[in-house]
Order: sequence, then structure tokens, then C-alpha cells
Amino acid sequence: MLIDTYGRVATDLRVSLTDRCNLRCTYCMPEEGLQWLAKPDLLTDDEIVRLIDVAVTALGIEEVRFTGGEPLLRPGLVGIVERVAALEPRPQMSLTTNGIGLRRTATALKTAGLDRVNVSLDTLRPDVFRTLTRRDRHKDVLDGLHAAHEAGLTPVKVNSVLMPGLNDDEAPDLLAWAVEHDYELRFIEQMPLDAQHGWKRDGMITAGDILTSLRTRFDLTPEGEEARGSAPAERWLVDGGPHRVGVIASVTRPFCAACDRTRLTADGQVRTCLFATEETDLRAALRSGAGDEEIARIWKRAMWGKKAGAGLDDPSFVQPDRPMSAIGG
Ligand code: 5AD
Ligand code: SF4
Repeated sequence: MLIDTYGRVATDLRVSLTDRCNLRCTYCMPEEGLQWLAKPDLLTDDEIVRLIDVAVTALGIEEVRFTGGEPLLRPGLVGIVERVAALEPRPQMSLTTNGIGLRRTATALKTAGLDRVNVSLDTLRPDVFRTLTRRDRHKDVLDGLHAAHEAGLTPVKVNSVLMPGLNDDEAPDLLAWAVEHDYELRFIEQMPLDAQHGWKRDGMITAGDILTSLRTRFDLTPEGEEARGSAPAERWLVDGGPHRVGVIASVTRPFCAACDRTRLTADGQVRTCLFATEETDLRAALRSGAGDEEIARIWKRAMWGKKAGAGLDDPSFVQPDRPMSAIGG
């Protein structure tokens, strides 16, 4: 299994399938986009499936999450899902997407074996969406969400990041909308992972702010620690349930001690943490003909070097070179 020096065991693998995206969320990317990874540097579909195979058969990975950039931009996505669904033991599979394109692909993904989706949506107002993402695609996201729900990719989770002066007044509206549509809403505190390095702690919207805002309209009761497990979201029952709302307080209440993740970038690097400044190259091993056992050994060694925490509060904290869009959330 994948274990670190603090006794944490990784059972959840996040695989970034591309660093490209069709949105330009201000907390993630600059307007002009980024220097994308070159095609030969990307893992091929076969290489991705091979690494996931090693992860589930030799390393105890139970859950695989596909991320990006925007994973729906990866041409081979449905085929990758299908092949991972055929692995023994079959891992749980989910997808974190901006939702654009889900309208077309939700059914095919479900048929291929995808279990769930997390869709990012920060606002219910098309004009604010345009400002936040620099693209006029609000309706595509709403249609995509609807299609995912219809296709049975449930529970459909919605991730929202609140930005001061833009959408920070929308928390209760987003929750009312999510309850109405049977989506599970989770707010994520803005993290220092933007390519522009523009994050400032002062002025960021905290979990505390979000809860205060939600409580102006809803009665929230905590779900309790057992229910949380290693999940980063703390959850509350909305007006007695059954609907819930989650808050992922990565900055103000980090959950590193319960972390059960390992990450693979689109160019085949293992990252033990979103905020890691070191990576381990599995692509080189793959391409030089390493066998499964050798790959498993390299991955285990990387895990052993996992740091205790993200260290956001440490004065020596440095933001990783790779932005969120090239790590995958
Ligand atoms: N801070 C917090 N969340 C972020 N996301 C992207 N960049 C950031 C950031 N800097 C979110 C996206 C998506 C998920 C992958 O991470 O909105 O929901
Ligand atoms: Fe694209 Fe997600 Fe970054 Fe927005 S946050 S630009 S949807 S990768």
C-alpha cells in the first residue's frame, strides 16, 4: 500500500488528464491561458491506464478521480473510463469538470462506468460567470449539470469558490438552488494555487464567512466527525436534512492529518500534495521499460516522502510552480 512516515495511507488517486481548459477562472489562470504541456510529454491513454492498473492492483488505490485542466477536453476520456472500470478490483470513479460538454458526454461516461461527477460552478448569474471565468458559457454548465443528474452520475456535487466583491453574496442563493435541483453543494476556500500568484490571505472568503452567510437563511446542523472521515469537506444538514452542504476549509482549517490522496499529473509526475514542491517522475520509468513492481516501488518511495502538511501558515511557505490547472484539484 501507499503509506507515509506519519502513518497516512493513500487510497484515493487523482489523475490529471490535461492541463488545458476552455475557461479562464480568475483564481486559476490568466486571461491569455498558459504554456500548455507538449503532446509528447503527456501520458498516452495506454500509459494512464497502466499506471492506474498498478495503483489499484499493487498499491491499494480504491478510488480514482479524473481531473484537468478540463478533463472533458481529453479525447480518449470515455475509453480510459471504460478500461479502468474493467480493472480488478474495480475502483470507484469520479470526474471533476467545469461541466461544459457534459450535456453531450454524461450518458456515454455513465455507460463506460463513471460513478459520479463534481461540477465547478461559482455563480447563478451569467454576467458574474462571464467576469469570473472570462467566457460566456454559463448556460452550458447548467445544461451539463442537468444532463449529469439525468444520466445518474449521482450524487452530483457542485464546487463553488467565493471571490470577494464578485460572488461572495451568493452563498444562500447557491444553496437554495442546489437543494432545489438535488445537487450537493460544497464551498471551497480560495487557495494559493493560481498561476498568476495573486492570492492574498487578507480579504479571502473564509469558511467562517460562508457559514455566517448561509445561516442568515438556513438552519445548519453539523454532521459530525465520523461522517467526515478523510473527506476534506465538513458537512452540515440543511434545515434538518436530507440535503447537505459542505465547506472545504483548506486554508483556515486544513485537513492534512487525514489526507488519503496521491496525485498524478498529465505528464506522469506523482505529487503527494496539492502544495508539494517536489515531484516524482513515473513517465521516465514507464518509458524506459520499468515493470509494474518497479513502478510500484517508485510510487511508494514518493509517498514515504509526503510532508506532514501543506504548510500554508509556515513563514517559509512557497507556492508550488505548477498551478491548479496543471495539478487538478
Ligand atoms: N482555490 C480553490 N479552488 C480552486 N479551484 C481551482 N483553483 C482554485 C483555487 N485557487 C477549484 C475549481 C474546481 C476544483 C478543481 O478546484 O473551482 O472546482
Ligand atoms: Fe479551468 Fe477549472 Fe481552472 Fe476554471 S478552475 S480555468 S474551469 S481548470
